[in-house]
Amino acid sequence: MTKPTFTDFSQAIITQLERDITAYITDKHLPEPLHSACLYAMTNGGKRVRPLLVASSFATVSQVINQQNFYKNIGKIDSVRLSMLAVELLHGYSLVHDDLPCMDDDDLRRGRPTTHIKFGEATALLAGDVLQNLAFETFCEQIFAESWRIGNNLLTTFTPRARRMIMGQMLDLNGEQKNLTQAELEAIHRDKTGALIEASVLMGGICGQANEQQLNALEIFSKNIGLAFQVQDDILDVTADTEQLGKPAHSDEKLDKSTYVKLLGVEQAKDYAQSLFDTAKNAVIAEFGNENYLIDLANWLWARQK
Ligand code: IPE
Ligand code: IPE
Ligand code: MG
Ligand code: MG
Ligand code: MG
Repeated sequence: MTKPTFTDFSQAIITQLERDITAYITDKHLPEPLHSACLYAMTNGGKRVRPLLVASSFATVSQVINQQNFYKNIGKIDSVRLSMLAVELLHGYSLVHDDLPCMDDDDLRRGRPTTHIKFGEATALLAGDVLQNLAFETFCEQIFAESWRIGNNLLTTFTPRARRMIMGQMLDLNGEQKNLTQAELEAIHRDKTGALIEASVLMGGICGQANEQQLNALEIFSKNIGLAFQVQDDILDVTADTEQLGKPAHSDEKLDKSTYVKLLGVEQAKDYAQSLFDTAKNAVIAEFGNENYLIDLANWLWARQK
């Protein structure tokens, strides 16, 4: 059987994920307006890159792509489903706080007013807090039921990288109005954005019971994609317009952030992103070949316009 297209695969994954997000948040009986703010922040049309990385990594490692309709059943595997939920909840929280006036002070996200503009700062702060908690609470669900070893590996992969995301946000703020070296900038991007992308890819591999060699390949892939993703975000901040991005263009310039565009210029930053994508894909090709969803996902990310 030929592999279902990446579009079919990702649509099925995202449909399942979005159902889970709404059910999971609603199930917690959060008081208003916290409940509405959480749903608002989590169901407003993100690309869902991190859950797709979990699912693609799982599919690549476990080689289930040849089973008919496997992608329609992926949501029935608790460890995969809950890992997708965990990474997206953490990501959602990070964006709610990232947009706050005390952070990047942005008023538009995914084409709509940011959570603090819509619900006020106090509710947005609490929405971020509770989304972060919910991300960790997923591990209290069925995640350990399949296998204690897998559950434990997922937890020890996820939690330090969630912390690194916050450390990266601190370094990002410290880097405003400074001229950093490439090594210093790389350290920021690897933590603030790369860490959660690393976690996503590795968690998919763990759910698929990857061996050590496969996990090494996934780690190289994830580190390079993770850095490339933020380099692209820096580029899009200056090359795309607000309507296309769904968030304010030139936000980094406004705050004189340390970005790859400021360091290298647009063209060199693009070349750098391309070289990171190549390194990422080569690591996956060497271990898993060319026909898998991690390669499809990398190609889709390379071409992204928002
Ligand atoms: C934006 O992430 C923040 C970064 C880490 C660069 P995404 O580009 O994945 O945002 P959404 O979820 O698709 O809106
Ligand atoms: C955000 O980086 C990183 C995290 C939220 C952890 P940015 O501040 O560049 O993200 P956008 O551009 O606002 O989406
Ligand atoms: Mg920021
Ligand atoms: Mg921002
Ligand atoms: Mg940005």
